[in-house]
Amino acid sequence: MASVEIQNVRKAYGDVETIKGVWVDVPDGAFVVLVGPSGCGKSTLLRMIAGLEDISGGTIRIDGRVINEVEPKNRDIAMVFQNYALYPHMTIAENMGFSLRLAKKSKEEIAERVNDAARILGLTDYLKRYPKQLSGGQRQRVAMGRAIVRNPKVFLFDEPLSNLDAKLRVQMRAELKDIHARIKTTTVYVTHDQIEAMTMADRIVVMRDGIVEQVGAPLELYDKPVNTFVASFIGSPSMNFLSGKVAEDRKSVLTENGVRLPLGPEASASPGTAVTYGIRPEHLAIAAGNEGIPITVTNIEPTGSETFVQGTVDGQKFSAQLRERLFIKTGEVLNLALAPTNSHVFDAATGMRLG
Ligand SMILES: Nc1ncnc2c1ncn2[C@@H]1O[C@H](COP(=O)(O)OP(=O)(O)OP(=O)(O)O)[C@@H](O)[C@H]1O
Ligand SMILES: [Mg+2]
Repeated sequence: MASVEIQNVRKAYGDVETIKGVWVDVPDGAFVVLVGPSGCGKSTLLRMIAGLEDISGGTIRIDGRVINEVEPKNRDIAMVFQNYALYPHMTIAENMGFSLRLAKKSKEEIAERVNDAARILGLTDYLKRYPKQLSGGQRQRVAMGRAIVRNPKVFLFDEPLSNLDAKLRVQMRAELKDIHARIKTTTVYVTHDQIEAMTMADRIVVMRDGIVEQVGAPLELYDKPVNTFVASFIGSPSMNFLSGKVAEDRKSVLTENGVRLPLGPEASASPGTAVTYGIRPEHLAIAAGNEGIPITVTNIEPTGSETFVQGTVDGQKFSAQLRERLFIKTGEVLNLALAPTNSHVFDAATGMRLG
């Protein structure tokens, strides 16, 4: 096991800088998830840790040692990609042991390590089969097995579950987490799926356009996003944003036509400041009488367990995820209640959190 320290790392392809100074600290044994929209630089950063891309600036340390110039094979890292290709003509055991055979390990050692990994992954009964005789999820586990047998200091995963169907992805995400809890190898995991990030990570790194927007534990990011980008990226369905101005009492925000939105005690903005007010759809409930935020309903989607409502508040798009069932029609106004402490407020100009 080992820590990974990424300090002011940059990557340029020609004149175009795609990683623009990134700091990430991955403590020994941690499971850190890099998340962000397509093209933000997640894979590039991972490939730089692996040594598959040159580092244009900054330093990467593994276990305290600068590895910028160290050959990939000497970094003691195992990487699992989205498109893991298993060798079709080799059995599962041979696939898993392949890198050890290349490293000229003894037959006994290979067998032992493959058997250990197979036990961890629940693949013991499949070792004599060929890849085409396995399901997608089992093949993905074999790909993981090839990494595990090497007993590396660090695992790097680049969207390893994105080729699996939704149900299998959920199952594999729990399995991966369970495997990490048992073997505790330091892991850097890339995904653009924020649910995967939230459920698997000890620590999430949110990236955008080659920089890190925020680093924190999943619920820290959910509760206190530093800006509107992180606020909209973390959480599903996405946070609602309404434009308004801080009221004289500082305890609320007023939309253009005077809809009052309550602020929590931590919000710090002077009266009149133009703000973006945020509230998560799941933090709303049906209000008593005429209190709360009036939403003009445009669409209602009952799923059985909950009701998803879309509409507008003072002309601005708004949605709510309610536990109650609704007996109203589209076009009607529904009053929604929320706890002020669940509100978020951001500077309208910069998008930065205010308190
Ligand atoms: N070899 C290359 N030459 C030039 N530009 C590249 C190269 N590889 C990646 N890029 C650019 O670097 C940026 C980051 O790419 P990267 O693959 O790291 O994104 P990503 O966050 O992994 O995206 P995705 O979620 O789609 O996999 C992109 O704008 C991409 O076009
Ligand atoms: Mg990628």
